[in-house]
Amino acid sequence: MKVRKAVIPAAGLGTRMLPATKTVPKEMLPLVDKPVIQYIIEEAVAAGIEDILVVTNRAKSAMDDYFDYYPELEERLSRAGKERELSEVRRAADLANIFYVRQKETKGLGHAIWRAKRFVGDEPFAVLLGDDIMRSQVPVIGQLITAAERYHASCVGVQQVSTEAIAKYSSVKVQPLEERIFQVEDMVEKPRPEEIFSNYAILGRYVLTPHIFDILEHLAPGYAGEIQLTDGLKALCKQEKMVAVDFQARRYDTGNLKGFLEATIDFSLAHPETGAWLRDYIKEKAQTL
Ligand code: G1P
Repeated sequence: MKVRKAVIPAAGLGTRMLPATKTVPKEMLPLVDKPVIQYIIEEAVAAGIEDILVVTNRAKSAMDDYFDYYPELEERLSRAGKERELSEVRRAADLANIFYVRQKETKGLGHAIWRAKRFVGDEPFAVLLGDDIMRSQVPVIGQLITAAERYHASCVGVQQVSTEAIAKYSSVKVQPLEERIFQVEDMVEKPRPEEIFSNYAILGRYVLTPHIFDILEHLAPGYAGEIQLTDGLKALCKQEKMVAVDFQARRYDTGNLKGFLEATIDFSLAHPETGAWLRDYIKEKAQTL
């Protein structure tokens, strides 16, 4: 079971980051000096993924422009001797084989994934959600691929969240298999308090078998009237083996303002150009607060 393909759903309207995302796709917002989606693609590539499908919509063409060459800019940078900028600009375009498909209608995450059916074909594939940005030693999607390959199963990435927070996510019913790995028995999207199975929430990373497409094709709308991926996975885990990995990473929800700012601070502190300066600036600022 080799995972070579990934799907990145990026067709959401970005309503939690308005007004910035009125005309700039939320995936293109800069986290320090790179757009959010580049971190996602770099995570997939670091885990050995070769082909990536981005599910977009009509307002997201800035994304495919970003991963393309830009000869006029590159020539200008070359003439000015700006070698570092030139190599960064080229590197973004050469990261992976990136394909695009439009969702056409905003019908939910499950529907967006279903649009990847032709791209995926008959092999297991990874899914990475653009709002969940990870800082980890081992790429999070790589941690899931290892477990999926070992158990010959679909795999969801989970972490424990607070009981107040889980209503924003999905709750998974799990049975321990080994350290940090569980058998998945059930799940629920955006649980009400009485529906919570556990505090383990799925947080933006999945490895799925292509059987999910047959399920999604016939799935009724769920939470918020949308086709929910979690509802499809709930059916899948009853038909075939599914495991959950309690992945090792600091995860940021960059789909909301506070999570985005946390990620900005932490990634800036880790960045060679800004880290030392920001540390001093924060210390100086803290004295006046
Ligand atoms: C989506 C999924 C949900 C998951 C969450 C965090 O929700 O539907 O199951 O827990 O991402 O990755 P959304 O953030 O789109 O509301």
